[in-house]
Amino acid sequence: MELAEAIRSRQSVNRVKQDPVPEEAVEAILESAVHAPNHKMTEPWIFHVFTGKGRGDLARARAETARLQAEEEGEDEEMAAGRVSRERKKAFRAPAVVVVVSRAGRDEVETTENYAACCAAVQNMLLTAHSLGLGAIWRTGPVAYHPHMRDFLGLQEGDSIVANLYLGYPDMGQRPRRREDVSGKTTWHRG
Ligand SMILES: Cc1cc2nc3c(=O)[nH]c(=O)nc-3n(C[C@H](O)[C@H](O)[C@H](O)COP(=O)(O)O)c2cc1C
Repeated sequence: MELAEAIRSRQSVNRVKQDPVPEEAVEAILESAVHAPNHKMTEPWIFHVFTGKGRGDLARARAETARLQAEEEGEDEEMAAGRVSRERKKAFRAPAVVVVVSRAGRDEVETTENYAACCAAVQNMLLTAHSLGLGAIWRTGPVAYHPHMRDFLGLQEGDSIVANLYLGYPDMGQRPRRREDVSGKTTWHRG
């Protein structure tokens, strides 16, 4: 697929089939990530890949996170049970889930730039998935960022969760693009 076409036609695919994603495709997606620009060659990315029954570990971590959140918010038992069940199921929304983590830098600027590099890596992954005929969506949210998820993934202080990437064969069609024209976002400083 031509690059400009891939960039324009990529979309977040939130409905995918449960057919497994071949491991070679996941590897190609991961490999594309590490070509992203990164300042001082820190190569700050770490990936956790959950497929098949391996998603059970992620499901349990999500469920426990939801339980803790319900407790923190003083939610009643019935509400909490619903929340825990919904969060557990989310791990199985796609046949493959890749969690992208950015490592802490040696100072605040490096940590910020590491995160920026990882965002570039995620875009590479989204485009590669798209070029392979796979659907992908970048997801985050309060569960993804919760301290329990950080512990589950073995994050150190200053490390960041960048993305939960859900991958699978699309089970939805193309949506119309919603973007403002770039001219309204641009100031040219011409000589
Ligand atoms: C940092 C980040 C976090 C995101 N988290 C979510 C999410 O939790 N749930 C979701 O449905 N989409 C999430 N998205 C995807 C955006 O909703 C999506 O990119 C946006 O609606 C534009 O649609 P498109 O990707 O199809 O162009 C996230 C995107 C980014 C960059």
